[in-house]
Amino acid sequence: MKGIVLAGGSGTRLHPLTISVSKQLMPVYDKPMIYYPISTLISAGIFEILIITTPQDRPLFEKLLGDGSKIGCHFEYEVQEHPNGLAEAFLIGEKFIGNDKVALILGDNIFYGTGLSNLLKENTNPDGGIIFAYHVDDPERYGVVEFNKQKQVISIEEKPKEPKSNFAVPGIYFYDNEVIQIAKNIEPSKRGELEITDVNNAYLKAGKLSVRILETGTSWFDTGTFTSLIQAGQFVQLIEERQGLKIGSIEAEAYKSGLIKKKELKKLAKPLLKSGYGKNLLCIL
Ligand code: DAU
Repeated sequence: MKGIVLAGGSGTRLHPLTISVSKQLMPVYDKPMIYYPISTLISAGIFEILIITTPQDRPLFEKLLGDGSKIGCHFEYEVQEHPNGLAEAFLIGEKFIGNDKVALILGDNIFYGTGLSNLLKENTNPDGGIIFAYHVDDPERYGVVEFNKQKQVISIEEKPKEPKSNFAVPGIYFYDNEVIQIAKNIEPSKRGELEITDVNNAYLKAGKLSVRILETGTSWFDTGTFTSLIQAGQFVQLIEERQGLKIGSIEAEAYKSGLIKKKELKKLAKPLLKSGYGKNLLCIL
């Protein structure tokens, strides 16, 4: 399975922070935001990753992440000219996806939790689409799943004024190759975007959508507002200071996944010793 990190968009909800720098390069405590979704994909066993950015930010992401070979991955880059919606990722990424299955993760979504890596790994060979549901207090900000009494999904609505449940759809999605065709057939919504919710509804209509509930032991943050950005940073700081281990670290995740060995991790840690990031990396050895 291949992976796409969608890291474009206008970031207007974080202005003036994101007027000159992409949202997904903002710090979440001690590392750029995009490290978190990339490390989530690596933890799921997905090592071939396309990063979609705005045209102006592409060089910055390339400078930060390179071709991925330092951590045993393969990174490619494409640009999205305008924020035409999340589902455009499958049109921009068509060539990269080829005949494979694909996972999409949003560049501003952070996931953390024991068991998460295994849960994600179990879903990397979908026949149809697999999405997740997470209980939140403010479902109206998200895609919302409605279940019937048998816990079957009966609808998914994008940012409904009156949500039919408290289950939001987090920004990680697994699809078979059919997703490219589905994305080609959907129309822009009222807000002018190719909606991921419409892709999910097409799978639902075809009887090919599975929704897995993310346990409350898992933490999920969307970092799209000032408050959620600072809260995510505080969460990461708390866990890292308590445990002395990094979360959302692409280097650590590559080591845990066997993509790099002790020697390579030490080499990656060396130039990062001054900030303390490198020291934490060495801790996992
Ligand atoms: O965070 C999960 C939610 O993400 C889902 O529950 C919703 O169903 C889904 O539509 C999406 O809602 P958001 O309102 O949070 O999406 P937003 O417009 O903030 O975009 C999410 C990320 O994707 C953000 O990092 C910017 C990037 N993006 C967005 C659009 C519309 C792009 O790169 N290109 C785009 O065209």
